[in-house]
Amino acid sequence: MADTLFVVLAAGEGTRMRSALPKVLHKIAGREMLAHVMAAATAGAEADIAVVIGPDREDVAACARAMHPGCKVFVQTDRLGTAHAVLAAREALKADYKHVVVLFGDTPLITPATLERMVSAIDEGAGIAVLGFEAENPSGYGRLVTDAGELTAIVEEKDASESERAITLCNSGVMAFSGQLMPNLLDQIGNDNAKGEYYLTDAVAIARALDVKTVSRIADETEVGGVNDRIQLAAAEAVMQQRLREAAMASGVTMRDPESVYMQHDTKLGMDVIVEQNVVFGPGVSVESGAEIRAFSHLEGCHVGANAQVGPYARLRPGADLDARVRIGNFVEIKNAHLGEGAKVNHLSYVGDASVGATANIGAGTITCNYDGVSKHKTEIGEGAFIGSNSSLVAPVRIGDGAYIGSGSVITKNVDAETLAVGRARQVEIPGWVARWRSKDKAK
Ligand code: UD1
Ligand code: CA
Repeated sequence: MADTLFVVLAAGEGTRMRSALPKVLHKIAGREMLAHVMAAATAGAEADIAVVIGPDREDVAACARAMHPGCKVFVQTDRLGTAHAVLAAREALKADYKHVVVLFGDTPLITPATLERMVSAIDEGAGIAVLGFEAENPSGYGRLVTDAGELTAIVEEKDASESERAITLCNSGVMAFSGQLMPNLLDQIGNDNAKGEYYLTDAVAIARALDVKTVSRIADETEVGGVNDRIQLAAAEAVMQQRLREAAMASGVTMRDPESVYMQHDTKLGMDVIVEQNVVFGPGVSVESGAEIRAFSHLEGCHVGANAQVGPYARLRPGADLDARVRIGNFVEIKNAHLGEGAKVNHLSYVGDASVGATANIGAGTITCNYDGVSKHKTEIGEGAFIGSNSSLVAPVRIGDGAYIGSGSVITKNVDAETLAVGRARQVEIPGWVARWRSKDKAK
């Protein structure tokens, strides 16, 4: 059994999001906020996770299970406060965890390092550790009341006296407990307060009365800020994007204009990758070392091999798989296609449901006609083949190794290796035609 249990509260309605989607399923950097929180919780030492969700939220449960198949999901039927929510997971608390850390599903920027500090505080002898922050605007938050630097209570805004309201050190919502002491503390929490809720924060004063040590740890406000509306969602996205860019640069990626590059939580960029301005990475992208992603390119669900060049203005869609030194130029779209080492598609082409052999050269304006209106079909292009500009390859079709397709061809049949195929109307020349046509026109 793990030493630590994380209890993630995710029963919030999130009405201020004005959304059909529950708040914790809104994404930042391509991943649900709940999944970010769970990822932070499981990044360190082995830990168990319990997620508390609202009734009839199979979608939230599914997200939690997808993220962490072993997690336990509990339903809080009535929303009677944060302590009540934690008690919905009572069954999980029974096990003898050393530490139980409560956190909220709508604070996606929480880091593993901070959670680690909370766990350490319990190991260092505290019964409760609260993660506080200096709030620029404390309104709405619970305030950390201290006495000679020691945390003595948390007072919710609605229950605070004037002097307590002046406190700017606020409760982030992350609270760590000694697993041993927690059940007893929770059982003593009542709901005699301004909101008539069971406040988890009351556990601090209760612990003090029992001579249990309570401490606070401090985090940066940007890390613990909750997301309640789309404006805060955008702000959290911006922070996450900056983190992802910095992590990429720290690992050896050059970004010409980092702020114009959009990444996903799972974007993998190798050493010495160069990313130019205005590049968007969708989910599931990996780029090997030395590759260059030039300006205004859009990539998702694809793999770019070492020292390949993509863009400017390229689109790599899911299943695009580029081997080393492949070159994809401007206004080229690649989908579900493997391109062998050194293959080139430099201008204005669509390559979909295809395989392209090493060093093949696909001329400007080539289209793989993969869709007949009912099904998709495959185009296979052999090693070193040369596809002349403005050719249509009508799938299913195979072009042999080293074959040569004349420009402007419509290829409907397989072409053997080392063979020239021309599929277009022959050029016709009629000497003197222009003069005859002009004189006819004048006569009219
Ligand atoms: C809570 C804290 C406050 C802290 C603030 C930080 C309490 C009593 N107050 O206040 O000290 O400064 O967070 O943002 O803990 N939830 C449930 N079930 C419930 C109630 C809440 O799952 O019955 C979940 C919510 O989904 C949310 C979190 O707990 O994720 C916080 O609840 P909320 O009602 O927003 O608490 P605050 O009043 O903001
Ligand atoms: Ca809140």
